[in-house]
Amino acid sequence: MSGVVSVGPPAQGLRGTATVPGDKSIAHRALLLGALAEGMTRVENFPAGADTLSTLGAVRALGARADHASDVVVVDGAGPALGDGARGTIDCGNSGTTMRLGAGLAAGAHGTVVLDGDASLRRRPMERVAEPLRRMGADVATADGRPPVTIRGGALTAIDWTMPVSSAQVKSAILLAALRARGTTRVREAVASRDHTERLLPSFGVSVTREPGGVALVGGARLRATTVPLPGDASSAAFLVVAALLVPGSELRLTDVGVNPTRTGYLRVLRRMGAAIEVVDEREDAGEPRATLVVRATPLRATSIEPPEVPATIDELPVLAVAAALSEGETRIAGAGELRVKESDRLAALGQLTRLGVDVRTSPDGLVIRGSGGRPLSGGQVASGGDHRIAMAFAVAGLVATGGVAIADPDCVAVSFPGFFDRLAALGGKVGA
Ligand code: S3P
Repeated sequence: MSGVVSVGPPAQGLRGTATVPGDKSIAHRALLLGALAEGMTRVENFPAGADTLSTLGAVRALGARADHASDVVVVDGAGPALGDGARGTIDCGNSGTTMRLGAGLAAGAHGTVVLDGDASLRRRPMERVAEPLRRMGADVATADGRPPVTIRGGALTAIDWTMPVSSAQVKSAILLAALRARGTTRVREAVASRDHTERLLPSFGVSVTREPGGVALVGGARLRATTVPLPGDASSAAFLVVAALLVPGSELRLTDVGVNPTRTGYLRVLRRMGAAIEVVDEREDAGEPRATLVVRATPLRATSIEPPEVPATIDELPVLAVAAALSEGETRIAGAGELRVKESDRLAALGQLTRLGVDVRTSPDGLVIRGSGGRPLSGGQVASGGDHRIAMAFAVAGLVATGGVAIADPDCVAVSFPGFFDRLAALGGKVGA
């Protein structure tokens, strides 16, 4: 794909049945836990995005063997000795999850590794994970709070940690370290972040205790290999859900999408905005609920997204901002300062909605968006800033912008959703170089 891609309104509604790649968040965890387990762990519906491939590289660097063919990865776990004797640098690419969860795993290994990444990752805060891991006994150094992160791991002791900001990455890093720590580790958070690690651990034979406001894990259990069938990624689905809501005449069925309640904040917000979304054929596999989403184009009304809703909508806020831009009234998003330290400063990036004729104001921790009341946007040029979710959110905006939206640096979609633009085109979207 060239350095710019244009997305314009389709001739008719988006119709048909589609799937999205397997869940990236769960995929990282399945690989990391599989590496620490004894035996062969099979990860099915594996999404071969750049981020999950970074984690695949990380588990190999720590000493597990892993084979990847089509959409299955088989990890031959190294057991509790994972990472012992490891040295060298692990390239985490663009992936904050690889780095933060990888740090938790490396903390319990008798080795020294350096976790590094691309220019975007090198700007992201790492003390939030370094601090608790140090408290557990690992020797962790950051470069002024940012990557590279150097970890000399070893014998760890349990901690009781209250997270200042709800973060599934930090919680999971601590839980991964806790698996090899002496004693009972507790992680507390004010608002529950995504709970994939807690849901996956029992499949590996490890019990986790859910407590009000947190989770507790007793160290020292041995993990046994398992099979992890990944549901479709809720965050990837969100782009197609909003696209179908906004493009008049659309009716889209998305099959086998993850509907874990800690990830479906976007469905709750969209329904509040009046969206016609049905969740059918719900079932649970490997601890994770999944379902078919049936989405019909609907006029939307503005809403208010309050701070406690942010953890369950964090990765969907860019595309929810696009939904707000087409709705009737003024939408306010508050308490989302974390968006400033994602793959890019997503609040600043969403300020580019003004280029498409949208009245948007950014604040230190949120956005105020005056919607068009369903009138198409004007269209224009925006920059992804190398951020996959920004590129995809603006692509959705392009579907309802008279002049289309030209997105600079679109290849980053491959971080989480390889083939995203082809998928939009297959559904009827107008996509060109
Ligand atoms: C993730 C947690 C979230 C999310 C990220 C993936 C995870 O980050 O934004 O895309 O897999 O645990 P934080 O934990 O920093 O909120």
